[in-house]
Amino acid sequence: MAIRNIRYDTDEVLRKRSREIEEIDNKIRELALDMVDTMYKYDGVGLAAPQVGILKRIIVIDPGTGPRVLINPVITKKSGSQTGEEGCLSSPNVFGNVDRPKNVTVEYFDMDGKKQTLKAEDLEAVILCHEIDHLDGVLFLDKAYDVYKLSDEEIEAAKREAEELERKEQEKTKKKNKNCKRK
Ligand code: NI
Repeated sequence: MAIRNIRYDTDEVLRKRSREIEEIDNKIRELALDMVDTMYKYDGVGLAAPQVGILKRIIVIDPGTGPRVLINPVITKKSGSQTGEEGCLSSPNVFGNVDRPKNVTVEYFDMDGKKQTLKAEDLEAVILCHEIDHLDGVLFLDKAYDVYKLSDEEIEAAKREAEELERKEQEKTKKKNKNCKRK
């Protein structure tokens, strides 16, 4: 397994349409695992193959429930709407609001070549739409409004703040656990 190089949004590869995968062989499985590693390395919640320079229809996501690999994903149903802030590993430090469906159904093949159906809502639906857009050469910035960019320092400060919050939460939980033990 390896971390792959991320392509940034001026790279033409991100504007091309990816090809369907005809055979799920070891090379595809290796690509999928590398993409999962790369997504985690850069704190992403999703990654599409063109973002690592490969024009094949494969995405990986993790909405907080663990990694999932989707090969030849197709959105077969959409309903409702939601608006939320998005970012992209190919556009570091840039954020903007995007309107997306609230619910989507996606059909895809898993790493064993089995056809699967995923019904997703909220954040998971957003991630699926964002990543599947990448396979058609579409970037979230094409659809985003109220776009803004943070400096590296601002990103670092926000990360520290989030970590501090998490630390406090963990302390609270620890205390609670202690209290439980005493009883
Ligand atoms: Ni993206």
